[in-house]
Amino acid sequence: MFLKGLILSGGTGTRLRPLTHTRAKQLLPIANKPILFYGIEALVEAGIKEIGIIVGDTKDEIIKAVGDGSTWGAHISYIEQNAPLGLAHAVKTAQGYLADEPFVMYLGDNLIWGKLQHFVREFYRTKANSVILLSPVDEPQRFGVAQLDQGRIVKLIEKPQNPPSNLALVGVYIFDHNIFTAVDKIKPSWRNELEITDAIQWLVSNNYRVNPYTITNWWKDTGKAEDILEANRMVLDELTGKVAPDLRNHNSQLVGRVIIQEGVELTNSTIRGPAIIGAGSSIANSCIGPFASISSGVTIANTEIEYSVIMEDCRVIDFPSRIRNSLIGRNTTLCRSTFRCNDINLVLGDNSQLFI
Ligand code: G1P
Repeated sequence: MFLKGLILSGGTGTRLRPLTHTRAKQLLPIANKPILFYGIEALVEAGIKEIGIIVGDTKDEIIKAVGDGSTWGAHISYIEQNAPLGLAHAVKTAQGYLADEPFVMYLGDNLIWGKLQHFVREFYRTKANSVILLSPVDEPQRFGVAQLDQGRIVKLIEKPQNPPSNLALVGVYIFDHNIFTAVDKIKPSWRNELEITDAIQWLVSNNYRVNPYTITNWWKDTGKAEDILEANRMVLDELTGKVAPDLRNHNSQLVGRVIIQEGVELTNSTIRGPAIIGAGSSIANSCIGPFASISSGVTIANTEIEYSVIMEDCRVIDFPSRIRNSLIGRNTTLCRSTFRCNDINLVLGDNSQLFI
């Protein structure tokens, strides 16, 4: 049997404003790589090379970043969803592309550490109509939640006020063609969306075989700024250090696992891993890391940064406070003015200017 991939990359990312005013949320960088690329890589690694990506308002930007898939040896098609009417609606929109093939659906703002192969094998081994990934979480009311009885799914509820368990639906699912019937049967939810959770519940209620598969690796739904920072921390923690041979290092120290991409210049600075410094960035008289991702083309001088994501082409010069737990959008300038405070936590959209 031939498995296709479907990645959902519509959605507006309202909880990540102001960053998502100017950029698709799925393209925000985690360890200097767009979130969406982690999903594509996971599918390709599981042997899935035919991938459809559902796009909405941010279509042009997504297509420009991802292209035809040849970077990954895959073939990527784009499917337009003309209104964000829910994940199940997105599945329906892709019915023509998916035809009758089973498929892995991957939410483009999710990041799952680890391989999907076992999960795919489980689908074939159990001859299920659907396999859903579950993971224990601290705040189940933010997710779709599964109630199990002796390992079988009894009930699935989207964002329950009183969750029956702490098992959240992770944003990766396998379905066969019966999901299209299910989507046709359900009604929009209180948030006026066709919920994939309700469609899966329909499958369960109508005696289709839906199997749970609980993951032990970490995963993140990167819906909010703190989730992006946490995902960045977790990905950096998994990476091994690597320094590009063209590094111009003037009296700087690399401590622990540090990734330095091409064309970087470091002067009198300390980079404390886990950390990544993007191509063409220059850093002087500064302390960077741990858990800092500095994108490409960034200039930093006389500043301390940790647990943060600094996006492309930012300038952070003589900044008097240590920057922590911050997400700084592209092409933003942070500069010194007259007074000093201690830590500072920021979420700044692209093209901002802050003088403190
Ligand atoms: C969606 C699903 C939810 C799932 C979550 C995983 O939520 O509706 O069931 O647990 O993704 O990321 P949403 O991101 O639409 O709030």
